[in-house]
Amino acid sequence: MTAGVSDIGIYVPNYYLPHEELAKARGIPVEKYHIGLGNYNMAIIPNWEDAVTMAANAALQLLERNNIDPDEIRQLVVSTESGVDHSKPVASFVQGLLNIGTRCRTYEIKHACYGGTAGLIDSIEWISRHTKFKPKGIVIMTDIAKYGFGTLGEATQGAGAVALLVETNPRLFSVDTLLNGIFSKNVFDFWRPTGHRVPIVDGQYSIECYLMALEGAVSHFRSNLGLKEGELLESLDYLIYHMPYTKMAKKAHRHFVEIEHKDLDPEGQEEIFEESFKKKVAPGLKGVQEVGNIYTGSVYMGLVSILEKEREKVENKKIGLFSYGSGCGAEFFLCQMNSGIGDIVKSLRFQEQLDSRKKITFEQYIQLYSKSGEEILYYPEETKGFKNKFTRFVFTGFKEHKRQYV
Ligand code: HMG
Repeated sequence: MTAGVSDIGIYVPNYYLPHEELAKARGIPVEKYHIGLGNYNMAIIPNWEDAVTMAANAALQLLERNNIDPDEIRQLVVSTESGVDHSKPVASFVQGLLNIGTRCRTYEIKHACYGGTAGLIDSIEWISRHTKFKPKGIVIMTDIAKYGFGTLGEATQGAGAVALLVETNPRLFSVDTLLNGIFSKNVFDFWRPTGHRVPIVDGQYSIECYLMALEGAVSHFRSNLGLKEGELLESLDYLIYHMPYTKMAKKAHRHFVEIEHKDLDPEGQEEIFEESFKKKVAPGLKGVQEVGNIYTGSVYMGLVSILEKEREKVENKKIGLFSYGSGCGAEFFLCQMNSGIGDIVKSLRFQEQLDSRKKITFEQYIQLYSKSGEEILYYPEETKGFKNKFTRFVFTGFKEHKRQYV
C-alpha cells in the first residue's frame, strides 16, 4: 500500500525585516546578504506567536480545506527545535487548539532541522501498515531560527511552520521509504545547550558537515536504487536541499554535481551545474529568499515554492529531497508526484501570505527579539487585532505557569 502526503499547509509570521535594513544597521554591504547569502527578507515572529501557534495555524488549513473531522486524525507529530516546555510536547497544545480527539498518538520529535523528515518518514511507514483502518496523520514542522544579535548567523534568521497531511493513496506525492539514503554522525556543528536562548555555531564547519552528510546520503540512495554515478541527477526532475540560506542550495548542488560526475573536469562539471541548477533547483528558492531559515520546515517550504512556481508542470515528476539537521542527521529521498494536483496547488496561498506581510524597522526587530516569552501578557480583547485570515491562534502569556492561547 502506498502512503505519502495529500496536502500541505504553510504558515509564516506576519512581519519581516528586509536584509537591506539589517545591512545598514550592522554596517555590512548589502551585497553580502543579497549575493553572498542570497537572501532578501527574513520573517520576524512577534511575541504573541510561538512554535505552537505557527503549528496550529498551518495544520488548521489542512482540516478546513479537506473537510476533515479532527477525530479522524490518529497520529499528530510535531517536529521542532523551538519547543515551549521540557516535558509537555507542542503536539499536545496543537491537539487542544484543533480539537483533535483522544484516539490520537501525539508526540514531539527532535533532531535539529532533520527532525521533520524523521517524523514524516515514521508517519508514512506507520500509516502504510494500517491497510484496514486507513488512518490519517498530520506531521508538523515548526521553528523559530534566532541567532545572537550581530552574529554571523543573524542574517539567516527566520520563522515558520509547515503541516503535512499523511494518508494511504495520497493525492500529492508518495514516498517509498525503503529506498531512502541515510547519513548520521555525532558532530558539534550547531547546537543549543539547555537554557540557551540562541545556538552556538561553528559556521564553516557546519557547511562541511552538511556537504559530508549530502555525499553519504546520496551514495546510499544511489546504491539502494541500483544506479551508477552520473545516473541519479539525470533521473530527477527537481531537487530540494535543506536551505538555511539560499546560497547553501547552490553549494549543495555544486557538490552533488561533483560527486555525480567525478570523471568530468571542472569546466564540464560547471556546465552541468549551471544548467541543472536553473531547471531543477532554482524553482524552489522563493521561500528561503523571503522567509529565511525555518529549520525543520525548510525543505518542505522549498516544495511549496516549487509547487507555486511550476504548478501542473510538477505532475508525475520525481523530486529528490535532501533533509539535513545539525548534530548531525540527514536523509535523501524521492517524492513521486501525482497527477491532478491543480486544486491542491491553488489552495496553498503561500505567495498571498508573503504579499500580506508587514515590513518592520531594525529598531522594532531589536525590541521584539529582546523580550522573552515569559514577559508578555495580553488581554483577549487586545489579541483580536493580532489575528487575520492566516493567523488564527495567538499566544497571550502565562496563567499559573500554563501557556494560554486564544
Ligand atoms: P560568514 O562568515 O558570513 O561567511 O558566515 P562568509 O564570510 O564566507 O560570507 C558568506 C558568502 O558571502 C561568501 O560566499 C562570501 O564570498 C560572500 P561563498 O564563499 O559562500 O560563496 N560575500 C559577498 N558577496 C558579495 N558581496 C560582498 C560579500 N561579502 C562576502 N560584499 C555562515 C556564513 C553561513 C557560516 C553564517 O551565516 C552562519 O554561521 N550561519 C548559521 C549556520 C548555517 O547556516 N550553517 C549552514 C549549514 S548547517 C545547517 O544547515 C543546519 C542549520 O539549519 C541548523 C539545524 O540543523 O537546526 C543551520
